[in-house]
Amino acid sequence: MSTATTARIAVRDVSRHFTVGRERFTALDRVTLDIADNEFVTLVGPSGCGKTTLLNILAGLDHPTSGDALVGGEPVRGPGPGRGVIFQQYALFPWLTVRGNVEFGLRTAGVGRRERRERAEHFIRLVGLEQFADALPKTLSGGMKQRCAIARAYAVNPSILLMDEPFGALDALTRVRLQEQLLDTWNAERRTVVFVTHDVDEAVFLANRVIVMAARPGRVFATVDVDLPHPRTEQIRLSPEFAALRNRVWQAVHHQ
Ligand SMILES: Nc1ncnc2c1ncn2[C@@H]1O[C@H](COP(=O)(O)OP(=O)(O)OP(=O)(O)O)[C@@H](O)[C@H]1O
Ligand SMILES: [Mg+2]
Repeated sequence: MSTATTARIAVRDVSRHFTVGRERFTALDRVTLDIADNEFVTLVGPSGCGKTTLLNILAGLDHPTSGDALVGGEPVRGPGPGRGVIFQQYALFPWLTVRGNVEFGLRTAGVGRRERRERAEHFIRLVGLEQFADALPKTLSGGMKQRCAIARAYAVNPSILLMDEPFGALDALTRVRLQEQLLDTWNAERRTVVFVTHDVDEAVFLANRVIVMAARPGRVFATVDVDLPHPRTEQIRLSPEFAALRNRVWQAVHHQ
């Protein structure tokens, strides 16, 4: 069987079953999906429809029961530095400071001390944590921890960003600011983003394409192309085109 594809990320007939006790549960049911280079795809759907499971498979942290997940034409076998992951639950090293956490990935990638410092500084500022660079995670709020995790993922500059409700724990203002920064980065540098969110507004604002998933079993339910222009401003959020797209996604999520 040929799995040749031009898509950056290719999900081919992926199913993932979990066995809990004697029950076999289908978290993902034959999901097929192509994500091109430099696409910004958002995934929305009800709790339990398999969004995190799909992202974990793309990250190489979980594996399909059947089917193939390919990145750059190669089956995903494990995590790699080209794929940056931001988890739904912030995952920081508790013994490292904010700066230490952000520098960690850079150290692993072999970036020298001075550049590490500078890059960490830049991304810590980007997420507004400069006053907490030397703080340990346990002294930070949930939103601050999440911003630290975001800075850490951005700092490594991966060509694929896999983001699982990264802005979910943030206040509305920080959230909007980080949405705009993420789009700026995406516009400035070639990058492929798969972004999970519960928020239909956020899904439409960020994406080129919204993929709506359904639960029981987890599957792709609908796809909505978002042809809104860039840069996406607050004006766009208020436009009738935005409202129409939001309604389409909303209908797909709530009337499945
Ligand atoms: N390790 C596991 N063992 C057993 N069942 C699992 C496991 N991981 C996920 N599941 C089940 O698979 C389904 C999909 O889970 P997943 O975390 O992917 O959903 P989700 O769409 O990310 O939900 P949410 O929006 O709440 O984060 C759920 O019903 C969950 O209970
Ligand atoms: Mg999830």
